Amino acid sequence: MQVIENIKDLSIIIKEFKTEKKTIGFVPTMGFLHDGHISLIKRARLVSDIVVVSIFVNPTQFGPKEDFNAYPRDIKRDTQLCIDAGIDILFMPSVSGMYPEGYLTYINVEKITDMLCGASRPGHFKAVATVVAKLFNIVKPDKAFFGQKDYQQTVIIKRMAADLNMDIDIDVLPTVREPDGLAMSSRNSYLNEEERKAAICLYRSLMKAEEMIKNGEKTTSVIISAMREIIESERLAKIDYINIRDAETLEEIEAIDRKVVIALAVWIGKARLIDNIVI
Ligand code: PAF
Repeated sequence: MQVIENIKDLSIIIKEFKTEKKTIGFVPTMGFLHDGHISLIKRARLVSDIVVVSIFVNPTQFGPKEDFNAYPRDIKRDTQLCIDAGIDILFMPSVSGMYPEGYLTYINVEKITDMLCGASRPGHFKAVATVVAKLFNIVKPDKAFFGQKDYQQTVIIKRMAADLNMDIDIDVLPTVREPDGLAMSSRNSYLNEEERKAAICLYRSLMKAEEMIKNGEKTTSVIISAMREIIESERLAKIDYINIRDAETLEEIEAIDRKVVIALAVWIGKARLIDNIVI
């Protein structure tokens, strides 16, 4: 495995792969890798000649009061996990390499960036779309792999790739969960023992929604109320949003009459956790 920090160095190597007609699978991450990332890497390994993983804690996608400085980092452990997973290139650009002085260009995917997590994190998805587009331009992947846990992010990236004619397959893989159902996330490391127990309320509320839909409930407000009740019974939990939306367009809906995403964001202590299911 090669570790590359310099963008130009990576571009030279990518050019060689392209000349050799090798397919490139790409897993962009912010590091502190967990089994969710590993499942993306394994999938990339299976379907690509070359696997590139990036680790870049992108400062622009954190709001001024968010956890950029506190975001967990463990490069030594991540590097070993990447070696164990058999990747070819670990790309770790610097902030000044990605955003040199005079940087002025951003990608704005409209409408679907303003709702759900975008409503609570203004500018977040503009920064995500921009950094992902930049990484795509540097790595030039045939396929890129993302986890369903960040559902809105996957919809935005697919929209951006289609709208900007990027010739890249966006592959979204299922959320990997802890044995009790908690979605794996680097931010779970913020939870103390009591908060970790409380955090299961997100998954419990999603399971309640799934059960209600299976039993014939169609009205989204009724389902959301039942979910709200479960989360609110947890003392340490504070709801940011619970929403049911069209799974493709993210448009808000009143009845379960198509493929939907049930998504929520909940504060547990300092950790803002998100989760979703698609039905
Ligand atoms: O999902 C993430 O880890 C990040 O948002 C991403 C896609 C690596 C962009 O910084």
